Amino acid sequence: MCGIIGFSGYERATDVLLSGLSALEYRGYDSAGISCFTKDAKITTIKSVGKVSELKALVPGELKSDCGIGHTRWATHGGVSRTNAHPHSCGNVTLIHNGIIENYLALRDTLAAGGRTPVSDTDSEIAAMLIDSLYTGDAAAALAAAVAHLEGAYAFCVLFSDQPGKIYCIRKGSPLVACQTEMGSIIASDMVALLRYSKDYFVLEENLIACLTRDEITLTTLDGTPVTPDYLTVTWDVSSAQKNGFKHYMEKEIHEQPDALSRTIMPRLVRYSENGTFYMLPDFTADGIPDSVFLGLSRIIITACGTAMHAGMMGKLLFEELLRIPVTVDIASEFRYQNPILDENTLVITVSQSGETADTLAALRLARKKGARTLSIVNVKGSSIARESGHVFYTHAGPEIAVASTKAYTAQLAAFYLIVFRAAYAAGQLSIAECAKYTEQLAAIIPSIQQVLEQKDEFTKISRHLTKANDLFFIGRGMDYALSCEGSIKLKEISYIHSEAYAAGELKHGTLSLITSEVPVIALATQHDVLPKMVSNIKEVRARGAFVILVAAADAMIEEELYDFRINLPQISDRFAPFAAAVVLQMIAYNTSYLRGLDVDQPRHLAKSVTVE
Ligand code: AGP
Repeated sequence: MCGIIGFSGYERATDVLLSGLSALEYRGYDSAGISCFTKDAKITTIKSVGKVSELKALVPGELKSDCGIGHTRWATHGGVSRTNAHPHSCGNVTLIHNGIIENYLALRDTLAAGGRTPVSDTDSEIAAMLIDSLYTGDAAAALAAAVAHLEGAYAFCVLFSDQPGKIYCIRKGSPLVACQTEMGSIIASDMVALLRYSKDYFVLEENLIACLTRDEITLTTLDGTPVTPDYLTVTWDVSSAQKNGFKHYMEKEIHEQPDALSRTIMPRLVRYSENGTFYMLPDFTADGIPDSVFLGLSRIIITACGTAMHAGMMGKLLFEELLRIPVTVDIASEFRYQNPILDENTLVITVSQSGETADTLAALRLARKKGARTLSIVNVKGSSIARESGHVFYTHAGPEIAVASTKAYTAQLAAFYLIVFRAAYAAGQLSIAECAKYTEQLAAIIPSIQQVLEQKDEFTKISRHLTKANDLFFIGRGMDYALSCEGSIKLKEISYIHSEAYAAGELKHGTLSLITSEVPVIALATQHDVLPKMVSNIKEVRARGAFVILVAAADAMIEEELYDFRINLPQISDRFAPFAAAVVLQMIAYNTSYLRGLDVDQPRHLAKSVTVE
């Protein structure tokens, strides 16, 4: 997704803008640009296709400026070209944009009738033309008038040629965070670009106009009423957003999972006593999530995108097993356009690492509009989904920079396990002793992940066999099917190998015809209750010549001729096997991508947070 940075202050603006854009590269992009007020109060714009490093090479050392804006573009409307790169200028206006203006074609025709013709193919340039057409010297008024015409999502930073040193910003749907520091005022798409300057920041509320100068940030409503921002403080430090000796962010984040899980689980464990016995139970008092959220429910809907949705698939299985409430998992981009039957006895759980995914945010808004109870599982504090949800369960995975989600996924799993145990206990489906036992088993998965990571040489051997594959299947049953879906997206998104997750029992109903000796199969066999059936399914693919990689419980009795590689999980209860198995699949995907020489952290075409539809 596009990255935005704006700075007005006492430092060299180009340094702040370029380092900010480098910090935002992880969001995914294909071109970049900056615009700065130079000492003669003119605006200089430099843009390039490709990496920020290529843009940096175009910025003259003698370019002196203390105010400017910068952008990394993830192409939506209009191909990848220097002309389509941001910033876009029209008349007095120079603008950068993250989002999609849905009615830009109608606006373009209206503006053309007024003699304004765009040079690019972008919706963003149309926005710049619109703002310029409404500008008569009052920047805030022009922005307020312009957004009244806009449909869709936007985060704008705008320079007005006759207002040097000032940056005007407004957002709806797409994120913007800002901070005022002694070196100046800074605004960006997310905290990763601000962290080196301040841990204190605020989220620009939707449809507030921010004006950044070197000494202050003023906020006003669309009608000009002043607003004071609510500052937040991040709990992680700069090193959290750096590689710290690992080759890639993804490798680092895979290895951070024991810490991420500990930070997510342990603060929620509270000592209870009953009849003189002490028990550690999940407790969400500090999260502001009362038990009443989980009581009297007729159904639960879990809605999210991608990996977050896969975590929801695991949550469904846990809820239905222990809370005995019907649960459906909906892809958020589908849910938001359905007409779901929701009421105050429906709990809608949204899951999102970034808390900014447009489809998931829209699904949450629909759920609230229809009167459902809402709970979100989010990793980024103060993000849109977190702020708009009735209740929030924060995962404490720390900043996740790699596009491929790893530590956020297992932290989302841990969130579901804790929530289900608490809900089932509160609803009387689990005794205090049972709840305490399951909670203790959950905490015990943390060292098991360390054990898996010690098998890294095995993962490299396996990956060497996969680098030439064109197609690959993940198969499993129950929890292993939900995990297969996650393993498949992990491999696809960073190795570009087509893979498909299949319920193992379903293969023989058509897809088995695709299995040949050229099609590796990763078979998950961590669940003892369906092991005999799973072995039969492995035999089916083996009989068709498949190269089989088995990920299994250590004590699973499976004949050696049925597989080429076997990864044994540490001794853990089946219910908690997904954590360790997930790490195996993450490492296989990571090594395969690395051995194929691909950009593991920033895979082609993808963004870390999809803030557009
Ligand atoms: C996961 O590896 C992908 N990067 C992607 O599927 C991601 O999970 C999805 O876009 C949802 O993002 P979110 O968790 O920030 O909402």
